[in-house]
Amino acid sequence: MIYLDNGATSLHKPPQVHRAVARALRTCANPGRGGHPAAIAAAEAVYHCRSSAARLFHCLPEQVVITSNCTHGLNMAIATLVRPGDKVAISGFEHNAVVRPLHALGAEILVCGRRLFDQEDTLREFEQALAQGAKVVVCTHVSNVFGYILPVRRIARLCREYDVPLIVDAAQSAGALEVDLQALGAAFIAMPGHKGLLGPQGTGLLLCGQVPGPILYGGTGSYSLPRTMPEHLPDRAEAGTMNVPGIAGLAAGLDCLHRAGIDTIARRARTQAQAAARGLEKLGFRVFHGKDQLGTVSFIPPMDCQEAEAALSKRGIALRAGLHCAPLAHESAGTLDTGTLRASFGHDACPAQTRALLEGAAALHCTSKEKEA
Ligand code: ALA
Repeated sequence: MIYLDNGATSLHKPPQVHRAVARALRTCANPGRGGHPAAIAAAEAVYHCRSSAARLFHCLPEQVVITSNCTHGLNMAIATLVRPGDKVAISGFEHNAVVRPLHALGAEILVCGRRLFDQEDTLREFEQALAQGAKVVVCTHVSNVFGYILPVRRIARLCREYDVPLIVDAAQSAGALEVDLQALGAAFIAMPGHKGLLGPQGTGLLLCGQVPGPILYGGTGSYSLPRTMPEHLPDRAEAGTMNVPGIAGLAAGLDCLHRAGIDTIARRARTQAQAAARGLEKLGFRVFHGKDQLGTVSFIPPMDCQEAEAALSKRGIALRAGLHCAPLAHESAGTLDTGTLRASFGHDACPAQTRALLEGAAALHCTSKEKEA
């Protein structure tokens, strides 16, 4: 299979990740719940993940809260900072993992920057929202639909100037772009473990510039006597038994990234995304691409997106069609009615994948003509 759905998850994990999961299943008990060797092995596996992430994202190991996915981290961050009626500035490219918790909390959402691949517009609109009294800013680092890289460093600087907390959704950038908690001065940065970080599904990280209010209460393996959650990180935000095999796999994924270098991985994905965009455009499709774009390209096929996805899938090419859980991004780009077909390259991006995609996309023209005839 030519797998180009890394925006949804990185399917092809390094063998070290497979081995680490299997080893943890065999050897790890419950971290912090016992002083025997199997409980200690589990605690070490979890700490390995936390400290490897801390090195990659420039923070302390205790600032790394392990979550079950990016949505979990975003919910925790948003519930900590947002109160009903608060003005919250978000980009025009946010995922439902941001929009829905804000809506559920009754926040007043100010959408900033609807213009795709226009960092200056994005920045200007965030500044306006801050001047209008936004209490919190939530911004995706990279659009999951279009690969647009938002100017997060400059948005962070604005937030610091206005003394407004920033939450970054690094779902598509973690493992591909520099994400630095200390330099950004963000309140929280949420990310999945199973995309660019190459870990298993059911893992995620929340980098904490401040202590989050827990959204889950229970045992932490520490300070068992009080009825309240511990005050300190990471225990305050990690109630209940953890996904130790998943976390061990994530630690192995992080080690692979340290070895390979995220710049190399990003360059590979970006090069193929650009080649794919140029090729798709030559084939006559409407393609969404621009200067500040990572390894994801959306385009509009000559037929219904879902039908095109199915036709490509028959040829062994895996893409994702539709609204990608991000209707706001499609609304901004004017593709809410049609959706798009999305190719997202990953750590294993190579020219053969692009060639296969272009051959498959060229064949869509024939399929659509056959349908018309
Ligand atoms: N949010 C993920 C995607 O973009 C699942 O496909």
